[in-house]
Amino acid sequence: MTDRPDAFAAAPPAVEILSAQKTYPDGTVALQPVDLRIREGEFVTLIGPSGCGKSTLLKMVAGLLDTTDGRIHVWRKPIEQLTDKRFTFVFQAPTLMPWASVQTNVRLPLDLAGVERGEADRRVADALRLVGLDAFAQALPRALSGGMQMRVSIARGLVVQPHLLLMDEPFGALDEITRNRLDADLLELWRDRKLTVIFVTHSIHEAVFLSSRVVVMAPRPGRVVEDIAIDAPYPRGADFMVSPEFSRYAKRLQDALQRASAQEISA
Ligand SMILES: Nc1ncnc2c1ncn2[C@@H]1O[C@H](COP(=O)(O)OP(=O)(O)OP(=O)(O)O)[C@@H](O)[C@H]1O
Ligand SMILES: [Mg+2]
Repeated sequence: MTDRPDAFAAAPPAVEILSAQKTYPDGTVALQPVDLRIREGEFVTLIGPSGCGKSTLLKMVAGLLDTTDGRIHVWRKPIEQLTDKRFTFVFQAPTLMPWASVQTNVRLPLDLAGVERGEADRRVADALRLVGLDAFAQALPRALSGGMQMRVSIARGLVVQPHLLLMDEPFGALDEITRNRLDADLLELWRDRKLTVIFVTHSIHEAVFLSSRVVVMAPRPGRVVEDIAIDAPYPRGADFMVSPEFSRYAKRLQDALQRASAQEISA
């Protein structure tokens, strides 16, 4: 069965960004009021020139950063009232503990949450299998390639069994082949686990390949300027990447990004 992105139209909201605005203490207006609704099961990508507030927005959704004004609801609750934090944040750098094994690194969130050892070990094994690293449980991070370290970081995010995945340029530092492979794996995971994903990238190709929707932002001050549905069916594979449909979306995004950059100059 294939899913079309419009299948999400009737889904309940996962994240509601309601006129959320951010001014940093030094006076930098990082985000003008943003209104955005992300429904359960969507794969939404934020794209835009450096400094347009993508990371700021993602951190506000995660509750890592306060909004200066406006509100953010996750599963219909204000983020600060969310008790069951079934979401995970994956950063660009894997940020692993270098002295600890892959297994210990992945178990960290469960140890912090006081999850019983047997249950924790089961979840760690499950997450490592999902990212294809079950044979490396005892390895130290330095013995792994950059792509494998990123997989460890993703596994560490998955052990909390999240429903919402927030990913800030997770594959930005990787070579293209590795990135393509991780993109394909991520899509499979997203579909298999019925996750909601908010993803940040600078890559137009990655955005088109992955997303059910791409939100284009412009900088100084940061704001949302376009919201583009990528209405191509899933599963998406290598065929999609060389299709005329893919090229049309890539061109559309490129034009939108050019407009977003031009707006900065004329602002
Ligand atoms: N802690 C901070 N204090 C002051 N200004 C900040 C702070 N963090 C970010 N900014 C500014 O806020 C704006 C948005 O930054 P943000 O990091 O969210 O952009 P971004 O879209 O993620 O950029 P990039 O693509 O380079 O990661 C920028 O002008 C940035 O310089
Ligand atoms: Mg950023």
